[in-house]
Amino acid sequence: MEKKKPRLLSGDTPTGRLHLGHWVGSVENRVLMQEDYDCYFLIANVQAFTTRMEKPAEVHQNVMDLMMDYLAVGIDPARSTLFLQSDIAAIAELTIFFSMLVSYPRVMRNPTIKDEIRDKGLGDNYPFGFLLYPVNQAADILAFRSEIIPVGEDQIPHLELTREVARRFNQLYCHVDTHTDDADYVKKGGLFPIPAHKLGRSRRLVGIGSPAPDGNLLKMSKSLNNAIFLSDDPDAIKKKVMAMYTDPNRLKATDPGKVENNPLWIFHETFNPDKAWVAQAEERYREGTIGDVECKRQLIDVLVNLIEPIRTRRLQLEQDPHYVISVLKEGTARANEEANHTLILAKEAMRQRYF
Ligand code: TRP
Repeated sequence: MEKKKPRLLSGDTPTGRLHLGHWVGSVENRVLMQEDYDCYFLIANVQAFTTRMEKPAEVHQNVMDLMMDYLAVGIDPARSTLFLQSDIAAIAELTIFFSMLVSYPRVMRNPTIKDEIRDKGLGDNYPFGFLLYPVNQAADILAFRSEIIPVGEDQIPHLELTREVARRFNQLYCHVDTHTDDADYVKKGGLFPIPAHKLGRSRRLVGIGSPAPDGNLLKMSKSLNNAIFLSDDPDAIKKKVMAMYTDPNRLKATDPGKVENNPLWIFHETFNPDKAWVAQAEERYREGTIGDVECKRQLIDVLVNLIEPIRTRRLQLEQDPHYVISVLKEGTARANEEANHTLILAKEAMRQRYF
């Protein structure tokens, strides 16, 4: 018999179209890992409501955008399950039980939560549910008893919390010894495997704009208006790359240029398959024997080659919203079976199954 594939889960909050930062951070990994893992991909629309509860129509559109991006990049519904967070009641139920296993100071000690409060300007006016979302995310993951979670670096604190919840649950309700190795929890009778995260090949892709006042390059993000999207057409890619921030002290092609901390070269190193060209061009850039424009033209070709097939598939999907919805509906039904099963086992472990 074929060996059961390990369970993989990941997902995104629907906030708009996916960009190159998502691609190298985790989406590329997800596409590749479909071969060897039993994959679940969730659209975290409940999580979108934690900061955008006033914009339901926008969240609706973003769910459609994310679905089309997933299908366009090559998430294959014949092999992987795509599903909607808000239609999995078991996730909401598990969130409540799990919230008892996490102290309030522990929730506040989450660097990603702190960053979001700062970056989104939430002040001290964020909803109660916003603080709950990392626990909700633990429920997303554990409802499927997932083992591996491909995510970007900003998600690591949430994965740490998820592991703490899983260990605690297994110790309290499945009587697993507190000194157990993470890899052994299920073997020792625990319900939840302790999930590992997997980072992409580039941990934090920079945007195409100028650096922050402290000199650090900002990460690629839709809200910072510095993103190249997986659905950008060749013309948009060309305009963005031509306007891309490079070495500000280099005024002409004969000036020696700086390769370090220069988005032009970060992008070439990340996306250009022709490593020999990149190494040689970087040398010439340092010496001042190659122009920005030539290097940018090369980069445009590389990015158009990567993005154009995705964009073309996406255009077809945009013509067929019924198909997109049917994939989501089927995936959500499949996901519900699995999550409901986990919920029954969790209630049993908690001695809360009476009939
Ligand atoms: N927090 C993730 C994001 O903002 C989305 C997410 C929700 C997620 N639940 C998850 C990611 C479970 C991985 C696993 O993009």
